[in-house]
Amino acid sequence: MKDLNMIPMPASVTFTEGVFYCAGRPKVTGDAYFEAEMVVFRGQMQALFPREKPGLGIALKRIPGGEKREYYKLTILPTGVTIEAADNAGVYHGLQAMRQLFMTRDKEGIPCAVIEDYPQFPWRGLMLDCSRHFFTVPFIKKLIDALSMHHINKFHWHLTDDQGWRIPIKQYPLLTEIGSKRRESRRQDVRYYGGFYTVKEIEEIIAWAAVRHVEVVPEIDLPGHTLAVLAAYPGLGCTGGPYRVEDRFGIFDDVLCAGNEGMWDLAAAIFDTLSSLFPSKYVHIGGDEVSFKHWAECPKCREKMKEWDVKEVSGLQAHITRRLAAMLGERGKIAIGWDEVIDNEEEAKQFPQELVVMSWRGRAGGDKAVKMGRPVIMTPNSDGCYFDYRQKDSLEEPGQPFPQSFSRLYEFNPISPGMTPQEEALVWGAQGNLWTELIYASKIAEYMLFPRVCALAEALWTPQSNKNFDAFKRRLTIHNRRLESLDILYCRY
Ligand code: ACM
Ligand code: ZN
Repeated sequence: MKDLNMIPMPASVTFTEGVFYCAGRPKVTGDAYFEAEMVVFRGQMQALFPREKPGLGIALKRIPGGEKREYYKLTILPTGVTIEAADNAGVYHGLQAMRQLFMTRDKEGIPCAVIEDYPQFPWRGLMLDCSRHFFTVPFIKKLIDALSMHHINKFHWHLTDDQGWRIPIKQYPLLTEIGSKRRESRRQDVRYYGGFYTVKEIEEIIAWAAVRHVEVVPEIDLPGHTLAVLAAYPGLGCTGGPYRVEDRFGIFDDVLCAGNEGMWDLAAAIFDTLSSLFPSKYVHIGGDEVSFKHWAECPKCREKMKEWDVKEVSGLQAHITRRLAAMLGERGKIAIGWDEVIDNEEEAKQFPQELVVMSWRGRAGGDKAVKMGRPVIMTPNSDGCYFDYRQKDSLEEPGQPFPQSFSRLYEFNPISPGMTPQEEALVWGAQGNLWTELIYASKIAEYMLFPRVCALAEALWTPQSNKNFDAFKRRLTIHNRRLESLDILYCRY
């Protein structure tokens, strides 16, 4: 039986007569509107066909169709290939489809076919935690390139946490000078672990991602998960310290003091930096796992509760979220928060309507947010979206000891049962999260990510009616060759 073994499975594949032989590097030409996509694709083909030996051509055509976002039509004939698309993202997806087929080509050639394809969800993301462990620029670029081959289009970059601050903020130089390194206290000798991305490196990653139609969404986690900030600027805490950049993992009671006006200067400097660097409309402001312990006792925090007329300590977090979101609004940006930000429902009604909720403690936060009319990105730890958990129930496996079902991830649907059409429309999509407490090297990260990224891609791209776990697993045995050609280590199921 003919099969192109593509992942994610396209919306429609119709086989036609003949085969397409590709003896050498294909020549790609067409509408100058797609120049940037041609440049990237030529680079990708150079890696696949190192010897210059002209093969048959790929022609790119721009078609009208304002409705057809990210759509492509790929026609493979014995005489050549045509990709038609209305927008740049669509043509890029079509080229990635061809890239997949070239990667698994054999002597028989590629069967001729007509493919029509488009995504089910606009937000198809992956988060990488670069605080708990630091990942290099070449690895991040390699990962983004591999994501784009699977039509994953958002890279959520977790840049700050208790264990390290990874982005320079000009007005706060100690964030990187002190906050980017942690003492390895389990060692007897004195050693530090860490790193940060320079402005130039951040620009390089954003540009690399942009031409691959991947949007980089930065996360600065506030007001909790901020021990790296407090180690650098202890005056911003409730107790004054002493603080250190953490080398343990968990939820710590030391968070930014809600009563300290300095928090707003810091946030302004961070948001100005992000606004000048990142073209994305979105800034993730974290908001997860904030301990209220010190806020409840701190005189400055208690003073703020009176001033802001909040009855419960949790109201302080809501107040902070509201103000951070408004500050982003002034800079033309939209806030995304982890689902804790809407725990205090009354207060959450005051947030800007466009604030996006990222549902991670199961789907409950997302289900609640759509009822409040808010956009949602699902990344429930209950449905296989937490890629830091083990892939198999075995001590031989890396990762947190909560094995996840691969088939459950494959079957994952960001839409919850019982949602109304209006609520469904508010679910933009989903993403996988790789937290890296236990992931100290990029090879382990790759192993945790793949083939889960492949299953996630299909969950978010492929129409429900085309999905079948057994067929997916069969295709995956071929697709593994593509991962190998990208030098990606993956788990075998
Ligand atoms: C989270 O996993 N703390 C968002
Ligand atoms: Zn305080």
